[in-house]
Amino acid sequence: MNGVPASFAVAALLTAGMQPAAAADIKRGQELLTRDCGSCHAVGRGGDSAAKDAPAFRTLGQRYPVENLEEALGEGFMSGHPDMPEFKFDADDVGAIIAYLKSIQQR
Ligand code: HEC
Repeated sequence: MNGVPASFAVAALLTAGMQPAAAADIKRGQELLTRDCGSCHAVGRGGDSAAKDAPAFRTLGQRYPVENLEEALGEGFMSGHPDMPEFKFDADDVGAIIAYLKSIQQR
């Protein structure tokens, strides 16, 4: 059978009483950031950024809600980001990245 209706899949996940979709998003977000950003930024809960001016991702939430990055991630990356190749993520990837960032923020 091809294509389980999305609403059915969601109901099944909710019935399971946990949020595996969110966990999968978080993992995917981490992978994307590690691949594309990890050469300069500290991606995880610890460690220093490789580029000394690049903020560790776990500290971004101290300056603004990480949701504010959605637009920048989806539409091509912000100016004022020196030496950085341009990144553009599709909506699913943006969601995964935001989910991951939320999961690691230090307050
Ligand atoms: C080549 C190194 C490099 C790469 C790769 C890189 N960054 Fe950065 N990033 C920096 C530096 C350096 C800064 C600090 C720039 C500044 O403060 O002007 C920065 C700043 C930022 C900021 C803070 C901007 C602000 O004003 O608050 C965010 C968010 C960010 N980067 C996200 C990302 C994401 C997401 C990726 C991967 C898709 C990425 N960066 C990849 C070097 C990099």
